[in-house]
Amino acid sequence: MNILHIIDHKVKQKALTKEMIIFFVHGYSKGTIPDYQISALLMAIKLNGMNDQETAWLTEAMVSSGETVDLSGIEGTTVDKHSTGGVGDKTSLVVGPIVAALGLKLAKMSGRGLGHTGGTIDKLESIPGFTTNLASARFKKQVNEVGMAIIGQTLELVPADKKLYALRDVTGTVESIPLISSSIMSKKIASGAKAILLDVKFGSGAFMKTIESAKILAKAMVNIGQSLGRDTRAMITDMDQPLGFAIGNRNEVLEAADTLQMKGPQDLLELCIQATSKLLVQAKKSDSMKEARIKVMEVLSSGKAYAKFIEFITAQGGNFEALKQPALLKTKYEVSIKANQPGYLSKIDALALGQAASLLGAGRLTKEASIDPNAGIMLHHKIGDRVLSDDRLATLKSNLPLTDDTLQMIKNAFTISTKPSKPSLIVHAWIES
Ligand code: URA
Repeated sequence: MNILHIIDHKVKQKALTKEMIIFFVHGYSKGTIPDYQISALLMAIKLNGMNDQETAWLTEAMVSSGETVDLSGIEGTTVDKHSTGGVGDKTSLVVGPIVAALGLKLAKMSGRGLGHTGGTIDKLESIPGFTTNLASARFKKQVNEVGMAIIGQTLELVPADKKLYALRDVTGTVESIPLISSSIMSKKIASGAKAILLDVKFGSGAFMKTIESAKILAKAMVNIGQSLGRDTRAMITDMDQPLGFAIGNRNEVLEAADTLQMKGPQDLLELCIQATSKLLVQAKKSDSMKEARIKVMEVLSSGKAYAKFIEFITAQGGNFEALKQPALLKTKYEVSIKANQPGYLSKIDALALGQAASLLGAGRLTKEASIDPNAGIMLHHKIGDRVLSDDRLATLKSNLPLTDDTLQMIKNAFTISTKPSKPSLIVHAWIES
């Protein structure tokens, strides 16, 4: 086997064999093939694509470059839910307790936020005492006993992806459906769950800007999961405006808690009801979405899902009562952004608000930076709402002095029209095969 031959093969638009894929993935992971040759191959893949079979082999080769999580000792159906990332996306904090209250097992490894998107681990670590660092035995014990656990990545999962992603980032080869889908799915497959639900977001605050591109990515990931023996489905959801009202770690945890008590924002609640209903169908606990929805509504309205949320937080050392104290949530600066004219909110730029929230301290501008758990933006309206002149559109919270640029960026994120605009739909489509 020879790397030049593999590059030449892809340049000539031929499909790579399984052996060729294993050779280059493991060779790069172990350091026997240099960056410059893999860069050339990645560019050939970006330009000429990969078929479904090559993409599945690529995913498998990446999974086998490192350790995998063994969930075989866990009783019941293990499920995982993955979002391609967005602004105000706290769905895992709502979905987990609902499915755990219904007897499924959520064993989840999550990441931190970077850039304009938040990360579940940062949100959870904003709860006083909460640890996202559990040893493998304790993680599995908690999943068995509580029904859910969420931790940061502990094992050396998919080291090939780490190396390849870093190289793609600096060689203009991130945007390639086979490379993105195999990168995401390799981590999901290595995490061990039997059923995987992907929330593929599209819109200004998402990685995929259009619904068409989100569907193509979703289809590629569903194909990979299915061909590697996992029940994988995808929902295509809106990220043209932030999800819910809260952006910023502690406020997002509180909004997730409100949603579990059915006091939260409608878009977040609906997304979570649909996601959990689908997971029940995937786990064969319900025959239809309609039947599953009744079960989901029961654990929400009876308080069982909220009780599960508290049980989960407590099991990982968190003190939710302490988080709710107003003194803990205080920031030095709190500023309102008001409507400058009456009308209907027609656009809320999720990307701009995600970037602005990072500047306020809620996110990281570099991997090493620390975040301020209280910083963020609280929206007071959603697209479609009627607003009067001077109505509050958002409240900004920060411990850093607000610059004029940041304030202007946030003001510009809101568009008010004179004509009514339709509230946007949250779940647009399902990709299931
Ligand atoms: N997220 C990933 O994990 N990998 C990609 O390639 C893109 C987004």
